[in-house]
Amino acid sequence: MSGSIVLDHIVKTFPGSSDPVHAVRDVSLTIPQGEIFGIVGFSGAGKSTLVRCINLLERPTSGHVFIDGTDLTTLSDRELKRERRKIGMIFQQFNLFATRTVFENVAFPLKHTGLSRGQIREKVTSLLAYVELEDKASAYPSQLSGGQKQRVAIARALATDPAILLCDEATSALDPITTSSILRLLKKLNHETGITVVVITHQMQVVKELCHRVAVMEHGTVVEEGDVFDIFARPGQAVTRSFVDSAGGETAESQFPACAENEKLLRLKFFGDSAREAVISQISRRFQVDIVILSGSIETIDGRPLGQLNVKVAADEKKLRPILEYLRELKVEAEVMGHA
Ligand SMILES: Nc1ncnc2c1ncn2[C@@H]1O[C@H](COP(=O)(O)OP(=O)(O)OP(=O)(O)O)[C@@H](O)[C@H]1O
Ligand SMILES: [Mg+2]
Repeated sequence: MSGSIVLDHIVKTFPGSSDPVHAVRDVSLTIPQGEIFGIVGFSGAGKSTLVRCINLLERPTSGHVFIDGTDLTTLSDRELKRERRKIGMIFQQFNLFATRTVFENVAFPLKHTGLSRGQIREKVTSLLAYVELEDKASAYPSQLSGGQKQRVAIARALATDPAILLCDEATSALDPITTSSILRLLKKLNHETGITVVVITHQMQVVKELCHRVAVMEHGTVVEEGDVFDIFARPGQAVTRSFVDSAGGETAESQFPACAENEKLLRLKFFGDSAREAVISQISRRFQVDIVILSGSIETIDGRPLGQLNVKVAADEKKLRPILEYLRELKVEAEVMGHA
């Protein structure tokens, strides 16, 4: 088994024109073989720089990068070149060679690997079949859609049978339907080959659909890390919460209209299959309060159901306290969204 990544106290500082830029400040992460690991954060958080440190496209200012136990930062150029074959990478802008055909793009990493022309042909043909582009072998990138270009890039990244695939905003330039088809392809690839996948994105929907675990970066550091389900269910940091909220496609404001002083807006999260409606009527009866359901959803994250209800409770501060306590007993996560 191979494809494990250990980042050990990675620091990357760029000289900058006047002051140095601290792009990555002391990040340590362990990504086991076969995991799909997401990295989210706002623009400039240091995501790309960190991921480029994994294959030493960017050499860390300090810290170590272990791939299957080998410290890449100590290797000679030749050894590093060999280790890098284990790591494929795809980008937002696809980075295909415009003057080469699809076939030639995918064949490119196989140059100087000792394979015969026949072996290369066989390999490229099977890769193109895997990404469902057999019929485009002699097309040029300019003749392809964005989704097709990314499939070519994926086939090219897989040519050397890497154990790790790094994806830097790989779906950010694509429409939602095409994004889903690329995510399905990455998922299938991970499932069938056990390849470790690291996904940088600012789209929480991508994390939700694809990843097992996620790290949230802010100002060059990882501020939160965990199972995707847990991060969606109980985001700890403000930055994480804003990303989790963004995945719903609605802002907190649009879900929670203004209401009166003696009313409270609550966001309730239900894990597993705690019966949602029953909880609402129980509370209503038990505490003699009116509860209005504003909106609700249930979705599956990494195979586990997570339900959410946004409700308006006719209760003031004092009346609300025992209700919150009771919800805690029922293991329902409640967040008070305030009153307008
Ligand atoms: N080669 C470089 N030279 C100088 N500064 C750099 C270089 N590359 C990145 N930076 C700086 O490092 C910081 C982190 O950049 P990085 O590209 O890693 O962020 P990011 O999280 O990937 O952002 P985005 O979401 O916009 O892609 C930024 O302030 C950026 O300007
Ligand atoms: Mg980036």
